[in-house]
Amino acid sequence: MLKRFLLTPGPTPVPPEVLAALSEPVIHHRAPRFTEILTEVVAGLKYVYQTANDVLVFAASGTGAMESAVVNLVNPGDAVIVASVGNFGERWLKLTRQWGAEVVALEYEWGTKADPADIERALAEHPETKAVYVQFSETSTGVVNDIRAIGEIVAKTPAILVVDAISGLGATDLKTDEWGVDVCVAGSQKALMVPPGLAYVAVSEKAWAVVEAATQPRFYFDWVAARKKMTGDSAQTPYTPAVSLMVAQNAAIGLIRDEGLECVFERHRWLGKACKEGVKALGIELFGPDDPEANSVTACKVPAGVDGGKITKLARDKYGVWLAGGQGKLKGQIFRFGHCGYFGASDILVGMGVVEMVLAELGYDVAFGAGVGAAERVLMKSPVQL
Ligand SMILES: Cc1ncc(COP(=O)(O)O)c(C=O)c1O
Repeated sequence: MLKRFLLTPGPTPVPPEVLAALSEPVIHHRAPRFTEILTEVVAGLKYVYQTANDVLVFAASGTGAMESAVVNLVNPGDAVIVASVGNFGERWLKLTRQWGAEVVALEYEWGTKADPADIERALAEHPETKAVYVQFSETSTGVVNDIRAIGEIVAKTPAILVVDAISGLGATDLKTDEWGVDVCVAGSQKALMVPPGLAYVAVSEKAWAVVEAATQPRFYFDWVAARKKMTGDSAQTPYTPAVSLMVAQNAAIGLIRDEGLECVFERHRWLGKACKEGVKALGIELFGPDDPEANSVTACKVPAGVDGGKITKLARDKYGVWLAGGQGKLKGQIFRFGHCGYFGASDILVGMGVVEMVLAELGYDVAFGAGVGAAERVLMKSPVQL
């Protein structure tokens, strides 16, 4: 038997309460009980998003909601700015180009943050810009962009700010309304603690005005149709929703409410700090800035002389621990610990211990226990339950 641990930044482990909810008998999506569940999920998501804006729910992976945030906003030939800091920033570039936008690409070295001053400059040079696309947590590198600063800049212009918060929402503080995020995309399978399959968008009034002017063809992802059905007297989705995942999301939101959003963020801060300190104590360099708010993913450089492709494979096949490798051009160069969602102190210790063993097997000079010990010293100080 191989005991398995899912220590990746999506999918993430699902709490037992949520698994139990998933096993409930399927209810009909036109029944009053489903309306209650949808209403509760939307209210719960507004709590997590810290928004009073509309929140739409789709049965889709996160990329589906990203695509919806292009087809509902951008007409062919419209100017958009994409600030890309990694693999998922490249996805914004591909999507906006695919749908015919004129894209001003601000491309940053992977492992660095987008510079708000560049966005300000690009907006001044292209006053016709309709939307600015950016990631909150760039999962491929662990970097978290300064959305508050970017939001302040975009809010002063007619453009709207579209943020992919798929791996950040519910892990790191993101004040959708206060920071001027007009469209915020999320997915169920990260810090929201549900299996993959649900995607969300929060849409501001400023963004709705843009949606109204959008002529791009769309059907399943039509936000106007979704809003109409979801905000009617008996809230429903236009098409058959992922009923069981919605029931599960409701249970997961209950757990987030019980813990309290501030404690959820604080738990992630301590887990992130413990992971980073553990890695550093092993003499491994972090990939990207040592940022106290970057708490969904810890990205680590593969030490010289170690075959990067083998780290995650050995951890998975010999020790049952799923870690994440590098994506795109970082393949083989970094490995990543995920710690967004249903993660606690013990997960960090398991992951760190296995990384010590794996690196030693791959020829790295490991001081056994150094990473685990450093993580333990951080975790013991946490004022919140981990
Ligand atoms: C930041 C970010 N954006 C987009 C995606 C794509 O989401 P999905 O794989 O659910 O389509 C992911 C998934 O890893 C992500 O982490």
